[in-house]
Amino acid sequence: MSDNVTVIKPLENPMHGSTRVPGDKSISHRAVLFSAMAEGTSRVSGVLDSADVRSSIGAVRALGAQVSLEKQADGSLAGGITGWGAAGPSQPAEPVDCGNSGTTVRLLMGILAPWDIQVTLTGDSSLCKRPMRRITAPLMKMGARFLPEGRETLPITVHGGGLRPLTYDAPMASAQLKTAVLLAGMYASGTTTVNEPAPSRNHTELMLPEYGVATTAGACTASVTGPAQPQAGEVLVPGDPSSAAFLACAAVLRPESSIQIEDVSLNTARIGFVRTLERMGAQVSVAHTGAAGKEPYGIIEACHTPDLRGCEVPADKIAGIIDEIPVLALVAAHAHGITVFRQVGELRVKETDRLAAIMDGLAKLGVDAWCEGDDLYIEGQPGLQVPEGLEFDSLGDHRLAMTWSLVGLTGKVPVNIKDFEAVRVSYPGFLDDIERLAR
Ligand code: S3P
Repeated sequence: MSDNVTVIKPLENPMHGSTRVPGDKSISHRAVLFSAMAEGTSRVSGVLDSADVRSSIGAVRALGAQVSLEKQADGSLAGGITGWGAAGPSQPAEPVDCGNSGTTVRLLMGILAPWDIQVTLTGDSSLCKRPMRRITAPLMKMGARFLPEGRETLPITVHGGGLRPLTYDAPMASAQLKTAVLLAGMYASGTTTVNEPAPSRNHTELMLPEYGVATTAGACTASVTGPAQPQAGEVLVPGDPSSAAFLACAAVLRPESSIQIEDVSLNTARIGFVRTLERMGAQVSVAHTGAAGKEPYGIIEACHTPDLRGCEVPADKIAGIIDEIPVLALVAAHAHGITVFRQVGELRVKETDRLAAIMDGLAKLGVDAWCEGDDLYIEGQPGLQVPEGLEFDSLGDHRLAMTWSLVGLTGKVPVNIKDFEAVRVSYPGFLDDIERLAR
């Protein structure tokens, strides 16, 4: 067995009781990046301590923000961030390395676009394969330059300055794209609007007002009017529903389990996976307990459900479950009948080609999964028996590492996961948390 293989053993007991999950990754990135842009010292708490968020912290430090975050007893980061404010980011001596983090690099393109500096952005081998023209194209329409011109992949150098506002009809529903354009639009005189083909997550629209920048938003549209310099704000980051999804799906699959996940974001743009599980007949529910700024949070409850059924997820709901499709596909593999996820081509350009990875992984389980165009079909097998000795490769993708680990954790035989360590990107304590629920 090669060095970086982790054996994931079946949970010893059903999952029971309450837990919390680490801070939301999308909100944590935004808290760090918006605080860095702001005038004055912002206070942030509940920030996720993971490799991806550390990429954002490292980047804003390199660009002149002062970050004094400390590890808290619950594992989160909290403290102050003093931004570069109206003076703008400083010219870094070196390229800025965004690691594995698409959110860091794509939001930074919008953040740097207004300023008269030249910053080279790069990342790890996965990030250097991901498409960037979707971000550089609208920013170029606003007046920013990117070199080499027309390049799709990192490294790319941003030459910013002198932006004009833009009304942009985005070709895909992407919160990263929407956010990059809105952040640039804050420094252009006039209103910048992004229209989307389907609703994407709306954390930017909800959080910018905490930094004194007004936004207007509808289901598939968001606008900001510049010039608008953000001022220091205060952000409390709720738990990450995308991390909670792995625990909830594990409880649905593991006989006799019943768990509650507390203080987790219940933003409707993020809990589409709960709706999908409900449509599969799973015993899941949510209960609101409060709000952090405009972000609602509360409890997600999930119980073992022996009689799941396949369902169809329409194209306009895909952006709301985009990060959860791998684990939902695994649940669908246990359901009676066929599950269809419509128009999931975006999965091909995530941390890895998740569409191919889902089909390969399910094939190892003996489950039929196929694509027709960009639609993903899974023919479930109730009572699925997992063969001994299976090995799955995370391909360095955190969400695939956790998805395939659930095969071992909720089943009867161990599985081997290559590069399980990829979980450090979004949920470093995943294995401890799930094992604690099964003690
Ligand atoms: C994110 C947006 C989504 C999501 C990613 C985080 C964000 O990406 O998959 O994990 O924080 O804005 P896209 O914008 O590419 O859909």
